[in-house]
Amino acid sequence: MNFVGKHILSVAQLSRSDVEQIFSVADKMIPYAQRQRITRVLAGAILSNLFFEASTRTRLSFGAAFNLLGGNVLETTGLASSSLVKGESLQDFARVISGYSDVIVMRHPDAGSVAEFAESSRSPVLNGGDGSNEHPTQALLDLYTIEKELNYRRKSLDGLRIAVVGDLKYGRAVHSLLKLLKVFHNITVHMVSPPDLRAPERVIAELQEAGHEVRDFDQLELGIQAVDVLYVTRTQEERFSSAAEAIKYKGLFRINQAVYTQHCEPNTVIMHPLPRDSRETAQELSEDLDSNPNLAVFRQTDNGLLIRMALFALILDVVDKIEFHSAPVAWRADPKKWEQPPFD
Ligand code: CP
Repeated sequence: MNFVGKHILSVAQLSRSDVEQIFSVADKMIPYAQRQRITRVLAGAILSNLFFEASTRTRLSFGAAFNLLGGNVLETTGLASSSLVKGESLQDFARVISGYSDVIVMRHPDAGSVAEFAESSRSPVLNGGDGSNEHPTQALLDLYTIEKELNYRRKSLDGLRIAVVGDLKYGRAVHSLLKLLKVFHNITVHMVSPPDLRAPERVIAELQEAGHEVRDFDQLELGIQAVDVLYVTRTQEERFSSAAEAIKYKGLFRINQAVYTQHCEPNTVIMHPLPRDSRETAQELSEDLDSNPNLAVFRQTDNGLLIRMALFALILDVVDKIEFHSAPVAWRADPKKWEQPPFD
């Protein structure tokens, strides 16, 4: 697809060649993300980072990615400090913010809200997570990480065997990852969750319709055997009716070094979208794995910067200008973005 000016709302928009294109641009971003080179290719451009749910990685890495490309970042965090609490519609909000911005990232607690916002936006919108629905850029950075980790192990994405563990009902990162895996070949997915927190039927059916093998497990020790990647998730407490309801599921599946050594194949990659819940009641991914070289969680977060830089470069059409950039301003605002009054 031609990414220029496009919204990125769901991984369902992406073909295999789209994913490969994003990964190829992400590779080119490494020297810039690592501060070996500097580019100002997005000087003059403005990102609006609208986060109406808690975030550390997504908000800051989108902001850092934009800054690394030379652009400026506006932010608003929390519904309480936004005029949405005064009853402003997402449509009005989008028309206002898109007048201030060249690209927008939004996280919102309601599934479908980012797509609804995007319909009225004159600037491209990236979904930073909408309720328990999707988190497409997390899935892209996860898949990019999986590909790199598999490459080190002389394996490829086609033929991947992955166990997804934990809250598969409410975890938007795992929903997007499972949907994105559809575009590859011969995938085996172990779904390891308490019966009440199984992945949505639609997500499972789509994987099966694409010809992939899906196996259900409610015992951790069985589900994590014979896979290349363990993708562990947190119980999404914020989606439950109460903390008391969520606590029933916390701590049911815990991966620690002893469990890993006993049940996983050697060099199984350990991933988690983070944050992991380190409180005593949860600990789905133990800190005793922190010195295990197969723990890829902080490589995931580093890769998030590359993927988000790549998406900005593709959407704002500066991929080919980055390496040859020399002047302070290589990017220009598109005058067509300005909303014209209907009577003009
Ligand atoms: N993985 C992720 O979305 O992290 P944050 O909630 O900190 O952004």
